[in-house]
Amino acid sequence: MEHNIFLIGFMGSGKSTISDYLSQHYAMEKMEMDQMIAQQEGMSISEIFQTHGEEYFRNLETDVLKELQSKGNVVVSCGGGTAMRECNVELMKKNGKIVLLAASPQTIYERVKDSHDRPLLEGHMDVSYIEGLMEQRRTRYEAAADVVIQTDGLDQASICEELMHRLEEGENAYGYSQKCDNR
Ligand code: S3P
Repeated sequence: MEHNIFLIGFMGSGKSTISDYLSQHYAMEKMEMDQMIAQQEGMSISEIFQTHGEEYFRNLETDVLKELQSKGNVVVSCGGGTAMRECNVELMKKNGKIVLLAASPQTIYERVKDSHDRPLLEGHMDVSYIEGLMEQRRTRYEAAADVVIQTDGLDQASICEELMHRLEEGENAYGYSQKCDNR
């Protein structure tokens, strides 16, 4: 694949799992933004939030996306907040397709309830808080996405199949409209 795939979506929406699967089954390189940032800073995401604050972390996310500009055939697992910055969305669109992994607040809660490495959910680990934050983010997530996959009840293989199929459909649709434009 020439371009990159950027997986966006709420915390616990399955971005890491799906990027693992895609990299294994579709011979794509895999990058995990949170992991890259933690490695680069030598501390966990929670520690970065505590030590430097959220804005500092958000700037690091933008820096990582800039670094990725020269790459292709990479599946990138973004942080849950990455698509909230307009400039991040522009950077992703420049050399990739953006796929939103959507899931219900209940599904998200089940997946994240025992984890303590998400500073934004620390002390707010309940379905209604998740639902509220998801609602605040929904418009931006959806506006950024080239493709939306509703993941509730689907296994990894089905999610990836649908994702690849929908991306191909998009490519075909694009090719067709190009032809019309050049008529
Ligand atoms: C965040 C999501 C986290 C991580 C940070 C902030 C968010 O990533 O980047 O804690 O704002 O939604 P995951 O979506 O991988 O949990």
